Amino acid sequence: MTEKDFKAEPYQYFSDSGKVTWKAPSNIALVKYWGKLANQIPANPSISFTLDACATSTSVAYQKKEDGKEGFSFDLLFEGKPKEDFKPKIETFFKRIEFYVPFLKDYHFTIETSNSFPHSSGIASSASGMAALSLCLLDVEKQLNPGMNEEFFKKKASFLARLGSGSACRSIEGDLIQWGEHPQIPNSSNLYGIKYPFEVNPVFKNYHDTILLVHKGQKQVSSTVGHDLMHGHPYAQNRFQQAFGNLDKFKSIFAGGDLEEFIKIVESEALTLHAMMMTSMPYFILMKPDTLEIINKIWKYRTDTKVPICFTLDAGANVHVLYPESVKEKAIQFIQDELVVHCEKGHYICDRIGIGAKIIADQ
Ligand code: PMV
Repeated sequence: MTEKDFKAEPYQYFSDSGKVTWKAPSNIALVKYWGKLANQIPANPSISFTLDACATSTSVAYQKKEDGKEGFSFDLLFEGKPKEDFKPKIETFFKRIEFYVPFLKDYHFTIETSNSFPHSSGIASSASGMAALSLCLLDVEKQLNPGMNEEFFKKKASFLARLGSGSACRSIEGDLIQWGEHPQIPNSSNLYGIKYPFEVNPVFKNYHDTILLVHKGQKQVSSTVGHDLMHGHPYAQNRFQQAFGNLDKFKSIFAGGDLEEFIKIVESEALTLHAMMMTSMPYFILMKPDTLEIINKIWKYRTDTKVPICFTLDAGANVHVLYPESVKEKAIQFIQDELVVHCEKGHYICDRIGIGAKIIADQ
């Protein structure tokens, strides 16, 4: 499919008002997206586990505009309170997607959003937030064009979410989502995420992700700036090639369930992501001393016990501890005994692989 395929069909109905609510999860990348071209096109393909507990719920109430004013019109409430500083991001998002959802200027929207995870937890809400908002908007479009089929609905929701925040396109469905064209992955696309199309061993079905909240504050460098620094980065081309290669390697790992090989790629991807940050110009470090303490403890524990637990990182200091269902008790015990001490205020979130976004209500 191309961008043109996402242009809206002429609307068949006009609804004066209504309200839709969706809950979309966060995701954690195993092969990372870091570096992009114009229009949120990724420089390399990526793959992620969709999460379950970490999610954003968003409702969008729409009311036909009576004032005839040009431009977008919306109010934004975050956790029940007006949130002016989020508005420019939504405005930019609306501008980017207007061509694909042209009803945006016909209505006044009241957008209410809240996260399942604590506000300043250092967990990025852009993926789940943009996914939930995109689903709501597309749900409105579906009311104007009821013929839209389920498959196209999900694709277009992912397409819109990508225009809000790249990785958000992997937060529509579960449980293993791939995004970005890859010659060996049929139907892979730079425009939206797809369900990973190959065999996946049951060992990956109930995977756990315990998120250790090492640093809850705002990170010093945003992902937008980080992606941008991959332009002219001395290692960029090799890094992009490595991501393609890692997706190739994952094919037999996912099918066969070889956790040793899985861990090698996942941890290497996490460290490579941060290596890109440390070697860009300007350079920066998002890991904290406790991030490194945790990594070293995980390595030692794994060597000593052979329990297949590993870590990954997103663009921040928090550590995602990944492990299969079969070692859940041991892993939780280890986390509580040795790792929680490195978390800010001892806070961590027990999450696991999830099945994707769901509708809460249509009114
Ligand atoms: O979606 P963005 O633009 O916030 O970028 C996210 C990038 C990483 O989380 C670091 C990696 C990824 O693939 O999710």
